[in-house]
Amino acid sequence: MGTSRPDGPTIRYVVNDTALEATDFLDLAQRVWPGDYESALADQALRRTLNVTAWRDETLVGCVRVLTDGYFFGTIPEIMVDPKYQRHGIGRALMERAWQACPTGLGFGVQAGNEPFFEKLGYVAQMAWYGRKKPRPTSQNGRTG
Ligand SMILES: CC(C)(COP(=O)(O)OP(=O)(O)OC[C@H]1O[C@@H](n2cnc3c(N)ncnc32)[C@H](O)[C@@H]1OP(=O)(O)O)[C@@H](O)C(=O)NCCC(=O)NCCS
Repeated sequence: MGTSRPDGPTIRYVVNDTALEATDFLDLAQRVWPGDYESALADQALRRTLNVTAWRDETLVGCVRVLTDGYFFGTIPEIMVDPKYQRHGIGRALMERAWQACPTGLGFGVQAGNEPFFEKLGYVAQMAWYGRKKPRPTSQNGRTG
């Protein structure tokens, strides 16, 4: 529990939030990156990451997920803060807790425009990010893990 900033909203942070439910995560995702998500598959994905969450009362207003092998490498699949709560220090608080909880260093791609946020937290541009897109698995196409 704690405010991210003295003048900010009271936010409860949970590190390694194993109780995080796909419905809450997808409600937040729809506010940040609207899309077509399958709840059961999202739930499987959430079970595979270390999730740090930010709650305003019973509403999930921020989440960062960490994917790490525990030894060589860790990455951030995504960080998202509810648009209504951005620029109140919640993203910083989530990233700091994720860093503390992660046994490895972290490397990840950054969407254009967000560089200053990560640079303020001590992250530096390193290698170029390469990606190849594939549609998300669905329960219909047999590609689910
Ligand atoms: C990027 C994001 C996680 C930042 O979260 P946030 O809660 O708004 O960030 P904070 O309030 O903790 O910001 C920490 C510092 O970074 C700065 N900052 C945050 N986003 C910034 C941006 N896009 N450009 C410049 N500075 C930024 C803040 O002003 C603050 O600076 P200060 O400490 O000097 O006052 C949030 O904007 C978000 O969820 N965006 C949509 C999803 C997204 O793009 N995720 C990242 C994909 S790479």
